[in-house]
Amino acid sequence: MRRAVCPGSFDPVTNGHVDVITRAAALYDELVVAVLVNPGKAGLFDVDERMALLREATADLPNVTVDSFTGLLVQWCTAHDVPVIVKGLRAVGDFEYELQMAQMNRELAGVETLFVPTAPQVGHLSSSLVKQISAFGGDVSHLVPPGVNSRLVARREREGES
Ligand code: PNS
Repeated sequence: MRRAVCPGSFDPVTNGHVDVITRAAALYDELVVAVLVNPGKAGLFDVDERMALLREATADLPNVTVDSFTGLLVQWCTAHDVPVIVKGLRAVGDFEYELQMAQMNRELAGVETLFVPTAPQVGHLSSSLVKQISAFGGDVSHLVPPGVNSRLVARREREGES
């Protein structure tokens, strides 16, 4: 059984993440999408919301499950017997840090990293840009799964009322 993990903050999941998850899911028997719980950094969505949005966005991928983790990613990998991390690479800017983490994760626990180049149509996408555009009233419906868009719109409307 070939298993891999696709880790990230996913605050919130974008179409760029869905592209990488979909393509990784085609390469492995089981793919776990793992959301980092970072107690030092409050996100826009809490971890349970991020996981629910990921489950919704990957509902048509039967071999994908969603989990969360704290601490080192390789500790989660060892505990769950998952030998491969899959990461999307958008542009050269991503590469330097991702390479460093990949080398460190292999050194720490022998966990390999597979890089998937994102599709060019979503290569410019990031969760932080999506949040910024939406907060100022921009339309992000073509950049994120429908459930994420409706949550962002609802949140903006709530905040506009207060
Ligand atoms: O979506 P992000 O924020 O780019 O995801 C980064 C993430 C969560 C994959 C990365 O920060 C991570 O693996 N964090 C867990 C802590 C860890 O293992 N650090 C050592 C890396 S060598």
